[in-house]
Amino acid sequence: MTVKENPVLKVKNLQAYVPTPKGEIKPVNNVSFSINKGEIVALVGESGSGKSVSSLSIMGLNSSAIQYKQGSEILFKGQNLLKLKERDMRKIRGNDISMVFQDPMFSLNPVHPM
Ligand SMILES: Nc1ncnc2c1ncn2[C@@H]1O[C@H](COP(=O)(O)OP(=O)(O)O)[C@@H](O)[C@H]1O
Ligand SMILES: [Mg+2]
Repeated sequence: MTVKENPVLKVKNLQAYVPTPKGEIKPVNNVSFSINKGEIVALVGESGSGKSVSSLSIMGLNSSAIQYKQGSEILFKGQNLLKLKERDMRKIRGNDISMVFQDPMFSLNPVHPM
């Protein structure tokens, strides 16, 4: 095993929550993982376990109803993406970090130019 270089992406203590009158819903409750260069990582879990909310957190595309607990970090190129302004996140989204959405036959329709 080679010496680990800095991970390309590091998700640390990610806690996404939705405040409601009856208390907090916690779609993602303290998730941490990192992805090294050249590595392929799969998030696996049952339906409703928080895979989509975790991924959309990285993209900065969750509904504004979803908030992040203090201490949640998504570290990319030395910055916490959760703290970025939308203007700065737009420079990263689609250039450095992209997402193929669910239903790829629709998302990647070969006869539909992007
Ligand atoms: N905007 C939201 N408001 C309230 N609850 C949400 C919202 N988005 C997702 N959830 C809830 O968070 C949990 C995790 O959802 P999700 O990440 O879509 O799961 P998965 O992709 O693993 O099936 C589910 O219980 C879902 O209903
Ligand atoms: Mg999902």
